[in-house]
Amino acid sequence: MIPQDMAQSLESDIARVAADIDAAEVGTPEAAEAFRVRFLGRRAGAVTDLFARLGELPAQERREAGARLNALKEQAQARLDEARNCHAAAQDTAPGAGADLTLPGRVPAPIAGGSRHPLTETRREIERIFGSFGFSVETGPEIEDDWHNFSALAFPPEHPARDMQDTFWIEPPAPDGRGVLLRTHTSPVQVRGMVAAARSDGTLAAPIRLIAPGRVFRNESISYKSFCLFHQVEGLVVAERVSFADLKGMLRTFARALFDDDVRMRFRPSYFPFTEPSAEVDIWWTDASRPDGGRWMEVLGCGMVDPDVFTAVGIDAERYTGYAFGMGIERLAMLRHGISDIRLFYENDVRLLGQF
Ligand code: PHE
Repeated sequence: MIPQDMAQSLESDIARVAADIDAAEVGTPEAAEAFRVRFLGRRAGAVTDLFARLGELPAQERREAGARLNALKEQAQARLDEARNCHAAAQDTAPGAGADLTLPGRVPAPIAGGSRHPLTETRREIERIFGSFGFSVETGPEIEDDWHNFSALAFPPEHPARDMQDTFWIEPPAPDGRGVLLRTHTSPVQVRGMVAAARSDGTLAAPIRLIAPGRVFRNESISYKSFCLFHQVEGLVVAERVSFADLKGMLRTFARALFDDDVRMRFRPSYFPFTEPSAEVDIWWTDASRPDGGRWMEVLGCGMVDPDVFTAVGIDAERYTGYAFGMGIERLAMLRHGISDIRLFYENDVRLLGQF
């Protein structure tokens, strides 16, 4: 063949192969592989063969034909790449096929955030409010001895006042005043605070102004408003010339901060062995479903520190006065959130907890 004809026949073969490339079947991975062998295979691939014929052309024609062949090769490669991508994507989405079951989901399910337990949230709010009034936050042990829980607080041995708080004893009470128990209130932390602050001459290095939140335990029958375990926040202020008016003012200011300015509260005279005079404080729980529009809920006990307590802890009872209070966190949380049964706080039902 003369070079002119060779160039022409190459030209027409390129056109034919180009048409074949476009028409060839690549719908499956097997077809794509056959396509690769047919057109791009190193041995006897249609495009490869055409390249081999380049050498027969005169240098001048070779350049142009070479460029055409490169384009042809790219055309075949492009179809092949496209087909392979397509197959890879299809395999990824085919049910179970080639799936890595350890991979996280493509659209991660939203992870539900936790929330604070309403008792924790209420305790923290109480701590925040008293903190803003300059009170420190103290803690004491849940396993106490008789002296801190009862005797120093002027509960005499064998006195019926001890029955006010049915006790879980760990070591039973003994006539000599010993005994180990689960604390029945947070008032023993008052005792610890005063003992720590008293100097040997009965004076205080600085006034006492503390709160003590914590768990307390009572062996009593369980109802919507009483549980065998609950939480209190104790408060204690000792200085010179502290009065009952200071106590009332502090508790009113506190209640307004925890609820709102028009919270209704009342002080009722009461009795505790370690305070004199003593009072209990109720807060009005508005409840439209009741005929009287609501009810009073007792939330705390309080009073002026009894001089006998000062004497027991070594503080000069002539010089100092003080007030103390102990509030129930559950009762306050019930009022804040309209929860009508104390037992709900301990069931840990996420349908309840998730609402806070
Ligand atoms: N500790 C008492 C109780 O649990 C409450 C209280 C505390 C009363 C401080 C007076 C002063 O019932």
